[in-house]
Amino acid sequence: MEEKQVSDQTITSVSRESRVFKPSAEFKGQANLGSFETYRKLYAESVNAPDKFWAKQANAQLVWRKPFKQVLQWKPPFAKWFVGGKLNVSENCLDRHLGTARENKAAIIFEGEPGDVRTITYRQLYFHVCRFAHVLENMGVKPGDRIAIYMPMIPEAVIAMLACARVGAVHTVVFGGFSPEALKDRINDCKAKVVITADGGWRRGKIVELKANVDKALEGAPTVQSVLVVKRTAQDINMVEGRDTWWREAWQGAPNFHDAKAFDSEHPLFILYTSGSTGKPKGVLHTSAGYLLGAKLSSQYVFDLKDSDRYFCTADIGWITGHSYVVYGLLSNGSTVFLYEGAPNQPEPDRFWQMIDRHGITILYTAPTAIRAFMRWGDAYVLRHRLDSLRLLGSVGEPINPEAWMWYHKMIGKKKCPIVDTWWQTETGSIMITPIPGVTPTKPGSATLPFFGVAPKVVDNAGKEVPRNSGGKLAITKPWPSMLRTLWGDDERFKKAYFSEFPEHPDYYFTGDGARQDKDGYFWIVGRIDDVLNVSGHRIGTAEVESALVSHPFVAEAAAVGRPDELKGQSLVVFVTLKAGHEPTDELKEVLRSHVGKEIGSLAKPDQVRFAAGLPKTRSGKIMRRLLKELATSGEIKGDTTTLEDFSVIAALKSDDE
Ligand code: WTA
Repeated sequence: MEEKQVSDQTITSVSRESRVFKPSAEFKGQANLGSFETYRKLYAESVNAPDKFWAKQANAQLVWRKPFKQVLQWKPPFAKWFVGGKLNVSENCLDRHLGTARENKAAIIFEGEPGDVRTITYRQLYFHVCRFAHVLENMGVKPGDRIAIYMPMIPEAVIAMLACARVGAVHTVVFGGFSPEALKDRINDCKAKVVITADGGWRRGKIVELKANVDKALEGAPTVQSVLVVKRTAQDINMVEGRDTWWREAWQGAPNFHDAKAFDSEHPLFILYTSGSTGKPKGVLHTSAGYLLGAKLSSQYVFDLKDSDRYFCTADIGWITGHSYVVYGLLSNGSTVFLYEGAPNQPEPDRFWQMIDRHGITILYTAPTAIRAFMRWGDAYVLRHRLDSLRLLGSVGEPINPEAWMWYHKMIGKKKCPIVDTWWQTETGSIMITPIPGVTPTKPGSATLPFFGVAPKVVDNAGKEVPRNSGGKLAITKPWPSMLRTLWGDDERFKKAYFSEFPEHPDYYFTGDGARQDKDGYFWIVGRIDDVLNVSGHRIGTAEVESALVSHPFVAEAAAVGRPDELKGQSLVVFVTLKAGHEPTDELKEVLRSHVGKEIGSLAKPDQVRFAAGLPKTRSGKIMRRLLKELATSGEIKGDTTTLEDFSVIAALKSDDE
């Protein structure tokens, strides 16, 4: 079979990026993890004697009600961590800070899109969550029940998550940009009993009709008995008698204190649906102690958290980044989290920079797709603001093109903020490959080295490690505490999707990503294996071709796909969006083809360059190459587009005359 033949080859890596940025003495002097030697030593301990390392961390980091008896029970692909232990995740995020210097510290600083600001201290957050926990229990919610959360980015979303955790209910947060249909499927898959929502949320000056969407979804979701509604946008909505309750009314009579029950280490904490490339979404299941430990420990070291920090993660709580690095990892560390409801370009494309100055944000964690949008909107929007409170920058979600990295470094970080390019996944629960700021020298485009306890390898199809600088599949060879436990209700699919890629190593987790390790052991993610390009017999990751294009000063964003070609097997088609002020011309197409040829060699010279006003993306900002491939191959898109963010992009691409 031809398919098979192709996939037996490893990936050729063509990137030539060689810049290295050493941590500044200033940052290094105050970093939580003193030195690179300490990292090396701790890392070696964490992978050579994981039981000892994790036992120590679990005891030091978490508040236990009952100590665990065994660190890990590993029957691949099923893991149980901290067996026999009991704790409450909400207590670990809230109660532990009461009676400490953090009690009256801001837990959440919120800014709504219209400009309203609210600050909630740890003590206030604790009361909100306690009262809401009573509301849930009064509604008959029992430990293990599933609750869907479909909300805007407002403090009540965080309160709802923590209240679920407090009573042992399993939340499934559905991103507020998803359609009623997508919400319905998720509710039905996990048989949710309650939906928590709002009348609406603000996005680009308009109301997102969340409650109306819930009403539509519930027409086909019979398991839901009750709906709780936060008043946010105050337009008229329909309240169904006996089913729907206003949050505020339910909350008013509830007692201030709530005794949190202790739950088993492996008690399910949440299900988060992630779209597979095909088929129905996968319900990734995370449990309590291991997940929380992963999120907490990584937050501390990767963001170098200090009590004085004001931390802004731009991800919505509908994504794993919002779960681990807005809610659980940060609040368990007693940090101040800044929450923003709306769009980055409302009212103008400098909203983030304005808020960073206004609230004195010190740490910014965002995605390459956002960084490329800022680059495209132009530097003037950034230069209006000081940004001198920032001390650390982070990136997540896609490979960051070296050019975007350099822009982030110079324009936002003013060359003084370290950048942590963090590789991880919904399934991994917490950051896996990342620099430690002040410690790890960084290279633009590389997520650098593994975090504690993480044992990644770049391997061939047999699961054998490939030599340095060769491309291959990225596998994680040892279990880690925050790993997914299964796919909700589907152990078989879990095994098939993640633990069957390397039959000789049934204990290796397959990430689905292609990668390369350079001579220093640094990891470079070259793209999803499913998207790999096959050009004249070479398998090349999409990220490398795209980065070459983005390194041209006129290019804002690029996507590379392969199209079947009788002569070459596949020909290379690239879709390109230009920065403000540049026009698409035939001449520019030629310039870009030669530019790629020059950057990475003529083998990767695109056969066709197509200009586009926008690229199709998922709602979390990842480029949907699958759709572009279809378009390049057949001129049509028939595949599943339910996760597409903006349908007009596809229409515009189709009407392109090429
Ligand atoms: C990609 C997001 C390169 C990768 C936390 C991964 C990255 C998928 C990076 C998971 C990074 C995420 N460099 N690629 N720093 N971070 N990815 O589940 O392909 O939304 O497998 O989790 O995003 O996406 P997910």
